[in-house]
Amino acid sequence: MLELPNKARTKPLKESRCRWWQGTYKGVVYRHKHGEIVCDDALHVLDSLREECADIVFLDPPFNLGKRYGKNGSHHDKKKESEYLQYMEKVISRSAAVLKDGGALYLYHIPKWAIRLSPFLEEHLDFRHWIAISMKNGFVRGDHLYPAHYALTYYTKGKPGAFNRPKVPKPICARCKKDLRDYGGYKKYVENGINLSDVWDDISPVRHHKKKTRAANELPLIIPQRVTTLSGIEGGLIVDPFAGSGTTILAARLAGMRYVVSDSEKEYCELMSTRACEDIPEKGPA
Ligand SMILES: C[S@@+](CC[C@H](N)C(=O)[O-])C[C@H]1O[C@@H](n2cnc3c(N)ncnc32)[C@H](O)[C@@H]1O
Repeated sequence: MLELPNKARTKPLKESRCRWWQGTYKGVVYRHKHGEIVCDDALHVLDSLREECADIVFLDPPFNLGKRYGKNGSHHDKKKESEYLQYMEKVISRSAAVLKDGGALYLYHIPKWAIRLSPFLEEHLDFRHWIAISMKNGFVRGDHLYPAHYALTYYTKGKPGAFNRPKVPKPICARCKKDLRDYGGYKKYVENGINLSDVWDDISPVRHHKKKTRAANELPLIIPQRVTTLSGIEGGLIVDPFAGSGTTILAARLAGMRYVVSDSEKEYCELMSTRACEDIPEKGPA
């Protein structure tokens, strides 16, 4: 394992020989104390990683809705459906290969694609949950229902190596501060919070410009943080090949995990490199 420096390098490296790569990875690499950011295509990054090196793979790919990512990315997000499926099949198959036994894969997507991609996931991994994350900004298209959730599908490679079920605060009435639900005789058991369920309706999108790091699609930190709480291992590795603004980097640092993240857009990689140095109360991998 190479020693990683504390501070961001303003100039990226041209290669890396960190232990997660198969031999030498050649490409643009921003190296940080607990991980690396690479500017490359997700599939090439996954192909270059060693098999069974990761504890978590987190996938938040473009949704193929014609969104513009960065200065060069407008054409990336509108493939033919068959092309998009083919690409994502390869991404999923390589993601499964880089996972350790017991490792966890999370795919964040809209239900239309989550359902089409699930057969590829089923081929390699074991289904654990379809987590519905409430969508606060959906709008009705044509003759469809109002879309009110994203899917976060959660799979493991065999028996989960880690599983920690977090407690979340009880829902409370904003006005009267009383419980919104009736817990009957079980009230005393929920005083310190309730077990996290597979419906996450307590998450707000990153909207406020002071909080938002980039133009579009930045995930609220709580989503990757819940992922690292559920399946993280201190000192373990999380891989996010479509990392955008780098929300996963913050979650990894808070959980004491190492990370390898990538994005095809140079400007996002630079942004992530700055974010990787943000002052946060990180644990730092053991
Ligand atoms: C939905 S966003 C991810 C947002 C991220 N989770 C965050 O919190 O900021 C998808 C990202 O994938 C990147 N992307 C698109 N196609 C890619 C590809 N083939 N390889 C790597 N990254 C790609 C886009 O530039 C975009 O930043």
